[in-house]
Amino acid sequence: MDFTAGQHKQAGLSFSPLKALISPRPIGWISSISPAGVANLAPYSFFNAVAELPPMVMFISAPDVRDDQPDKSGFAKDSLQNILDTREFGVNITSADQLDQMVASSRPVGAGIDEFELAGLEKKQAKTINAPLVAGAPAHLECHYYDHINLPDNGKGQHSIMVLGRISHIHIDDRVISDGRVDVSAFRPVSRLGYRDYDLVTDPFEVPEHG
Ligand SMILES: Cc1cc2nc3c(=O)[nH]c(=O)nc-3n(C[C@H](O)[C@H](O)[C@H](O)COP(=O)(O)O)c2cc1C
Repeated sequence: MDFTAGQHKQAGLSFSPLKALISPRPIGWISSISPAGVANLAPYSFFNAVAELPPMVMFISAPDVRDDQPDKSGFAKDSLQNILDTREFGVNITSADQLDQMVASSRPVGAGIDEFELAGLEKKQAKTINAPLVAGAPAHLECHYYDHINLPDNGKGQHSIMVLGRISHIHIDDRVISDGRVDVSAFRPVSRLGYRDYDLVTDPFEVPEHG
């Protein structure tokens, strides 16, 4: 099958296959706080580490689409707005144990709603940022806003925004450290596939490099 990017429907595919093709993707479970002090939490799977020294992450915020509030469609999602306002955010690693809470925190609720409370999650205080972290997550990255890039127009006068953050502090739960390494079988990070599918690392293996 071949088709021009964006024209999957004409090729007979009901849904865009892009996320299924670029998978598994890590999930950045982004916590932030508004200038008014309302905590916010949402998952982003257009997310990754982008540099090791200094350690940097990025995630992409698509334009907000609110079926119930069409007048707000196309505006910044709450995470993005908070980060632009406060210049900081947390990345919480989603373990299999908190999958349901992660999905619950993706509901498109108003900026005045605390999504930790909505998802039934406790907050953990961060060391270098004011945004709270997800208690019980196996690892947290405290980040300071570095820059953002406007991606091209989506054809509706809206665009996604790539947010880059510099990691200032890392917390790893001691229970997932074994012999000085993060033990993936204890860490149990959830990743996103295409459509509504998720995956867990169940069969990791090591490949020696350079002889
Ligand atoms: C697993 C998962 C991954 C997601 N990845 C993204 C993403 O990469 N970019 C995006 O804009 N929305 C993504 N979403 C949707 C947002 O989480 C959702 O729009 C959320 O309501 C945004 O919340 P906020 O307005 O509090 O930032 C994802 C949802 C789920 C469940």
